[in-house]
Amino acid sequence: MYKFFKEQLDSKIENHNLRTLREYCPLDAVRVKRDDKEYLMMASNNYLGLTFDTRVIEGALKGAQQYGTGSGGSRLVSGTFPLFTELERSLAKFKNTEKALVFNTGYMANVGTISAVADKNTIIFSDALNHASIIDGCRLSRGTVKTYSHCDIDELKYLLKQVDRNTRKLIVTDGVFSMDGDIAPLDKLYELSRDYNALLMVDDAHATGTIGNGHGTAAYFGLEKEVDIQLGTLSKSLGSVGGYVAANSTIIDYLVNTSRSFIFSTALSPADIGAALAALQVLETDASVLARLHENVNYMADQLISMGIDATNETPIFPILIGRNEDTLAVSDYLYEDGIIGTAIRPPTVPIGESRIRLTVTAAHNKEQIDYVCQSLQNAMKQL
Ligand SMILES: Cc1ncc(COP(=O)(O)O)c(C=O)c1O
Repeated sequence: MYKFFKEQLDSKIENHNLRTLREYCPLDAVRVKRDDKEYLMMASNNYLGLTFDTRVIEGALKGAQQYGTGSGGSRLVSGTFPLFTELERSLAKFKNTEKALVFNTGYMANVGTISAVADKNTIIFSDALNHASIIDGCRLSRGTVKTYSHCDIDELKYLLKQVDRNTRKLIVTDGVFSMDGDIAPLDKLYELSRDYNALLMVDDAHATGTIGNGHGTAAYFGLEKEVDIQLGTLSKSLGSVGGYVAANSTIIDYLVNTSRSFIFSTALSPADIGAALAALQVLETDASVLARLHENVNYMADQLISMGIDATNETPIFPILIGRNEDTLAVSDYLYEDGIIGTAIRPPTVPIGESRIRLTVTAAHNKEQIDYVCQSLQNAMKQL
């Protein structure tokens, strides 16, 4: 019975593609400890460094003290406590939409939204580098998926042209691409969506708290009122866990009634929601946090560029393209020996032959730490 699984695992070992869990003890937003050694975290999505912010911790504590540790049921049955309403109102205001709806994770938000909005008669146009949760949402919808090459507007236009105007259509894209750190051309996607009568959905998991003055991709392009569905997560810049969709009332009311990952799962705990709400308030009221992130992004980009690495994007995600799995693991191991966590990202997360170290910088890093990482990376690359 177990032979199949064993063979699959053996083949992953052979291809340098086995994944294992490592236990770390977080010390603060950027440092972790393992076996009495400290490591610098360069692989998290905690872009604003808010997971250890006292205001956010206070929000989590208050949530648990006021409403208990668990929500007790699905949002529609027993789980909508007042913090949910407050967070959804705040998210809608933040994203400049009529309403917002919180899901348990960003993954569940994508899966539950796409499978509700699209059905077997819908054609979904999806960027080739979209996140796995978008891909899984497309699969669950049973719609026809047409994948266009990464950010290729001409190809998308060509594909849209083939489809009857009255056929239901959805264009879906990451706002900031998770493994590449580049920004989707949302202005051009919006134009196409109106020309060809398609809904437009953007996944702002990595864009919220990083671009558009922290408000995300639609804000970056001045299209907050225009984009039909703005999806995001509470788990990255907002230092908690959970996902959300911001849209007009029709879309949100429709999701409440039809989105299976929303309906059939126990709601997040009051501590999660309390933390997210506090983090959102920090982002909106304390400009110094975002300013520190931008300063660190620019500093790290300059350092990498001076090493001859293409680091021209405006986001905290720096993909260091290596290619082969074994070389990527060697660089990751070298960094690890130097006390740096820079995870090797391999297929299927990225295409075969495009394995990379995905370094991320946050508002909580300092310049000496960034210098140290860049120096170690340079040494690691020399070993190849
Ligand atoms: C683009 C994108 N969308 C969605 C998700 C899923 O979000 P979450 O981790 O909150 O489930 C992620 C991250 O994991 C992501 O990178």
